Amino acid sequence: MKILTTGGAGFIGSEFVRQCIKNDIETVVVDKLTYAGDLQRLKEVEDKIKFYKSDINNYEFIDYIFQKEKPDIVVHWAAESHVDRSILDPSIFIETNVKGTQTLLDAAKKYNIKLFINIATDEVYGELGEDGQFYEDTPLIPNSPYSVSKASADMLGRAYYRTYGLPVITVRPSNNYGWWQYPEKLIPVVIIKALNSQPIPVYGKGENIREWLFVSDCAESIFKIIEKGKVGEIYNVGSGQERKNIEVVKSILDILGKPYDLITFVKDRPGHDFRYSLNTDKIEKEIGWKAKVKFEEGLEKTVKWYLDNIDWVNQKRKQLEDYWKKVYT
Ligand SMILES: NC(=O)c1ccc[n+]([C@@H]2O[C@H](COP(=O)([O-])OP(=O)(O)OC[C@H]3O[C@@H](n4cnc5c(N)ncnc54)[C@H](O)[C@@H]3O)[C@@H](O)[C@H]2O)c1
Repeated sequence: MKILTTGGAGFIGSEFVRQCIKNDIETVVVDKLTYAGDLQRLKEVEDKIKFYKSDINNYEFIDYIFQKEKPDIVVHWAAESHVDRSILDPSIFIETNVKGTQTLLDAAKKYNIKLFINIATDEVYGELGEDGQFYEDTPLIPNSPYSVSKASADMLGRAYYRTYGLPVITVRPSNNYGWWQYPEKLIPVVIIKALNSQPIPVYGKGENIREWLFVSDCAESIFKIIEKGKVGEIYNVGSGQERKNIEVVKSILDILGKPYDLITFVKDRPGHDFRYSLNTDKIEKEIGWKAKVKFEEGLEKTVKWYLDNIDWVNQKRKQLEDYWKKVYT
């Protein structure tokens, strides 16, 4: 089995690639290496993978890669992934997440790929109140430019299955956390600010609720889905571990022994979804997969990883400072 992974130099994609190598799977990675992509994440497996630096929108090059590598399976992680950036400029989100997915689906169709795993997100469903859960057949009512672009890509995959018979499976994971996450997302932001005793910005009153899935669990679920999933189906991949943002922030401060008065409430993100919660009966019953890592255990591991990899973090902080300077000048 040969797997072509897009976005394999990203946060979750790289975990998936490292697990592919552990499982002795022949692996080809395609990644544009945007600000969010980093080959350092693949250092430990670099001599075991074939890497192509390419935009998924570059059809000629993608065609060449498919022709040359003849992958059996495509696992499509590549995306612009940060909601705040999508609010500042939606265009690259449409370009990469929608157009890029279409380009890959076309190549997969042309080369008769055996399976296309289309990675979506729980955000495609929109938001929930205090109660309820998202099921795989819940209507998609996405709210941010990011989630709209992901919902479009999600539905394009479905269209290629229904219209052309391309063997697509759609996967909708919940919020991931863990090692190697780019430090613009909530958990690494809080760890880094807390370490430097800087004010920790929390949107609104921190009441928004997310379902936290450890990155190794997310990657592992894909192997199970490849093995046992049904073509044309959708699978929610969640952990059942919901936390308010303010609870997450306080847990990190507790681990680091830092005071709660670092917390600074800031103006809420426009259109901020209140809560996501995935029902995972389908993947548990049909595939026999369940997340293993408990939130508190995963959070301890994550904090430790950032402490042990402070040089990488500092590189990324510098990159981020330059980005925000550009945005505000
Ligand atoms: N992080 C989460 O909590 C989460 C939750 C659910 C779903 N997802 C989805 O999982 C996938 C991976 O998320 P992540 O957090 O690892 O993202 P990430 O931003 O860390 O990584 C994205 C990767 O895609 C690459 N990329 C971006 N544009 C590209 C392009 N045009 N061509 C080729 N490569 C390109 C980047 O270089 C990077 O390596 C995304 O599809 C995301 O929507 C993420």
